[in-house]
Amino acid sequence: MTSLAPAPAPSTTSPRTLPSAPGLAINGGTPVLPSPVAFMHTGLTEADIAAATSVLKSGMLRAAKKCEELEVRFAALSGAKHFMTCANGTCALQLAYEPLFAPGDDVLVPAWSYIATVSMVVARGGNPVFVDALEDTMQIDVADAQRKITPRTTAIAATHLYGCPVDVAAVQALAHKHRLKVVYDAAQAHLSTYDGKGIGAYGDAVTYSFYATKNLGTGEGGAISCNDDALARQIKLLRSHGETDKYLHEQVGYNYRMNDIAGAIGCSKLDRLPAETAARQRIAARYDALLAPIDGLKAPTTTPRATSVYHLYVVKMDLSRFACTRDQFCAALNKEGVPTAVHYPRSLTRQPAFARFADAQGHPPIADALSARIFALPMHHMLTDDQLAKIGEALNKVATAYRA
Ligand SMILES: Cc1ncc(COP(=O)(O)O)c(C=O)c1O
Repeated sequence: MTSLAPAPAPSTTSPRTLPSAPGLAINGGTPVLPSPVAFMHTGLTEADIAAATSVLKSGMLRAAKKCEELEVRFAALSGAKHFMTCANGTCALQLAYEPLFAPGDDVLVPAWSYIATVSMVVARGGNPVFVDALEDTMQIDVADAQRKITPRTTAIAATHLYGCPVDVAAVQALAHKHRLKVVYDAAQAHLSTYDGKGIGAYGDAVTYSFYATKNLGTGEGGAISCNDDALARQIKLLRSHGETDKYLHEQVGYNYRMNDIAGAIGCSKLDRLPAETAARQRIAARYDALLAPIDGLKAPTTTPRATSVYHLYVVKMDLSRFACTRDQFCAALNKEGVPTAVHYPRSLTRQPAFARFADAQGHPPIADALSARIFALPMHHMLTDDQLAKIGEALNKVATAYRA
């Protein structure tokens, strides 16, 4: 068995000796926010509950009218011709990958993403080839992808991470030049755009997650969009046991269907998604302004020609500007009433699950270093101006106390 590769450089992860900083809440001082703000919010309203209840009362629990309505409306909003709901975002990736590449193919994947983007490549029998992230946007580095293409490469899976589209023009150009299939993982990027169009307009397929905490969350749920009729048919067959007529199965498939309770919640939430997305974008702009004067904390950068929907607002630290590690910084911030999270504590090449691929490839350096430097601030449409001002105050307080 291959052993887990070593963790990132100890100098950035081992706790450092901290300045005394008696004013910090972690040292007994008064917290900036006496009760912590919520990190995220599922935003379920009475209308969503009524929509779900109405399906329950109807007795039609399987995928039916509500899933169909969600498919039609989401297709229009995302710029895609076909939109197919399914059980979750992981199934969505499986349904997209299976028709687009074969077992044994090399598939370019981001080293910096959620595990499912890559684990479903492996589940399909593909060989993941890990591509580094860009330092500024943290999205897949298409120049690095280009360097890693071989005659065995047939596809690229690119995640619109944190809600920010990747450099779609560069991905599409690379794919065109090398005849690669393209799957965009938009689990975190509902309603984001590139060049003024919904992200559903690009690539061979785009996948979504409707997991509870996503920008549109139905509990569990997912979807695949595409613009090719034959591919849409293929995905629908795979989604439901290859069934073309009652108990007539044209091919082997799965049961990866969504259900109408989730569909109803999705439709109800979709009514508010554009306004909630705009709120996230306003909050992100406020965070950008709050972070600008703080030396060593860097706001996320958006890919040129793209709009981000800020599923997460991820800050990068320049650790040389602080006397603490990221974890020590976050621990102090948490005690001030500002919860944080780390997406992700290790790059995918550091996951034991991928050791058999990653050990031979090494660790793309930017993705590898990000795991010790980044943290996410609270992000949801219900954050108030007052809360944001207090979060800014807390960031300044900790940054000043732990200044190198
Ligand atoms: C980028 C990305 N891809 C795929 C998934 C998988 O989605 P699900 O949890 O709905 O299976 C997630 C969920 O967190 C994700 O963030």
